[in-house]
Amino acid sequence: MNKQKKHAGEFAATLIEDGMVVGLGTGSTIAYFLDALAKRIQDEKMTIIGVTTSTKTARCAEELGIPIRDIDLVPMMIDLTIDGADEVDQHLNGIKGGGAAFLMEKIVARYSRRVIWIIDEQKLHSKLGQFPLPVEVVAFGSGKLIAELKERHLHPKLRLDNHQQPLVTDLGHYIVDLDLEQIDQPFELGHYLDGQIGIVEHGLFLNVADQVIIGQDEGYRIMNNLQKEM
Ligand code: A5P
Repeated sequence: MNKQKKHAGEFAATLIEDGMVVGLGTGSTIAYFLDALAKRIQDEKMTIIGVTTSTKTARCAEELGIPIRDIDLVPMMIDLTIDGADEVDQHLNGIKGGGAAFLMEKIVARYSRRVIWIIDEQKLHSKLGQFPLPVEVVAFGSGKLIAELKERHLHPKLRLDNHQQPLVTDLGHYIVDLDLEQIDQPFELGHYLDGQIGIVEHGLFLNVADQVIIGQDEGYRIMNNLQKEM
């Protein structure tokens, strides 16, 4: 799997052009991309500006010498964002948030001209839902919200950190994971979650990715979002 992630990450780094503002996602696949990008910056004397999606990625970019800038200090639209994902269906809809960074990732994606995800083969499923759907919630009243989601049979579970305390995201919220097994109507579910007070954002990324690069044991393959090309 690491081999597949590496192949996807390294190929994604070849897509970055000199002068670009680049959204830098979060996760273990992105780590390979960042390594390869840092090497290109050094070898080819490229000038790029990175916009990060988590404190983890910011730290990693700084260590690797990738220049980064605050999202509000770059032009309105980021040229290209490369990010990971936790699960992807054949329409290139996805679930993100396994690394608890999806709120910042969704904001960066919203202000990106193009979004490319890099994944391994195991993340492709005909329907979303095998990976628990993360929902970022305000801490205040989260117990009530969890009870309500339970009543609606959405199987919520508060995400805990290594000390068995509620995990707090980079933006100061909690994460509730919904164990749904199969999501038949992702747009309807997204719409419902969008409407709930206390929910800041959910990890359904619907029609967001323009392209998905799937790392394989030998090389990679590419899936295009035909809906976005129309
Ligand atoms: C972060 O919250 C997630 O959306 C990541 O993009 C995702 O978890 C990445 O997965 P990998 O670590 O397997 O690349």
